[in-house]
Amino acid sequence: MSIRIFQTIAELRTALQTERMAGRSIGFVPTMGALHAGHARLIETSARECDITIVSVFVNPTQFNVQSDFDRYPRTLETDVSLSESAGAAIVFAPSDKEMYPEPLDAHVDVDRLTEHLCGAFRPGHFRGVATVVLKLLNIVQPSRAYFGEKDAQQLAVIRRLVADLNVPVEISAVPTVREADGLAMSSRNRRLPAEERRIAPLLYEALLGVKKALLEGENDAQNAKKVAFSVLKNAPIRVEYLEIVDSRDLQPVQKINVPVLIAIAAWLGDTRLIDNLTYTP
Ligand code: PAJ
Repeated sequence: MSIRIFQTIAELRTALQTERMAGRSIGFVPTMGALHAGHARLIETSARECDITIVSVFVNPTQFNVQSDFDRYPRTLETDVSLSESAGAAIVFAPSDKEMYPEPLDAHVDVDRLTEHLCGAFRPGHFRGVATVVLKLLNIVQPSRAYFGEKDAQQLAVIRRLVADLNVPVEISAVPTVREADGLAMSSRNRRLPAEERRIAPLLYEALLGVKKALLEGENDAQNAKKVAFSVLKNAPIRVEYLEIVDSRDLQPVQKINVPVLIAIAAWLGDTRLIDNLTYTP
C-alpha cells in the first residue's frame, strides 16, 4: 500500500485507531522535514522494529528563537514524502501551524537542569518549544516507540527526561549520528552552506575527534582537552558558540574526565549554525 498523508489530527487519530485495534505496534519519527539520510536512518530503524511507522513533518515555530531562521528553514514536503516512503514509513503527518496551535498555548513543558548549558544557554525558549511540541506529538500519535538522533544529544536527553518525569507511555530509541563521507554530520541546515563553508564544515567533527583522541590518550583535564579543538579550528572562518565537555547524565560541565562525557560543539559558519557531538567513556 502506498504512503498516506494526513494534515489533521482527527484524521490521523482515526487511521491510527484502526492500526492499534489490529494490534500493530506504532513507531514514530518526529521531524521538521527537509529530510536527508540521517532522518532516513531513523525511519528505517523504526520500520524494522515496529509494524507501522509514522513520520511527522512540522517546522515548529515555537522552537525557533530567530524569526529569520524559521522563515529560511527549507520546506520540501513532496520529496520528504517520497523519502519517507522509500525508508519504509506508512504515514506522513504534516499538520499546518493552525492545526498544531489553533491559539497560543498557555501550557508548556520545561525540562530544567538539562537545558542550562550547551544549546540551552544560547537559544532561550528553544527546548521549551521542543519539549512542548514533542509531548503534543506523542499525545497525538501515541506510539509504542519514538526515534531520535544522537546528533541532537541535548534534545535526546531532554526528551528522555520529559518521558520519564511525566510518565509518558512510550519507549525512546536513540539512533547514532549519520555523517557525510567527509565526517560532517548530516543536517537540514547543511544545504544552506555555500561551497566554501561546506568545504570547511567537517572541521567541527575533526575538532571533536581531536578532543576525543586526547582523552583516549590519557588527558583527563577538560580545559586541556578543549585546547586541542581550538587549535584545529583556529585559522578557519568559524565562530565557535560553545565547545563543552559535560557529564553525559546531567549535561553539567566537568573539570576532570572521570565519568562518561559528551563533547559538544555549536559553531557558526557565516549565518548558518551547526552542532555536533561525540561521547567518551573513561
Ligand atoms: P529535525 O532537525 O528534523 O530532526 C529530526 C530527527 O532527526 C531528530 O531526532 C534528529 O536528532 C534526527 N537527526 C537529524 N540529523 C541526524 C543525523 N545526521 N543523524 C542521525 N539523526 C539525525 O529535531 C527536530 O527536527 C525537532 O526538534 C523535533 C524533534 C522534530 C521537534 O520539532
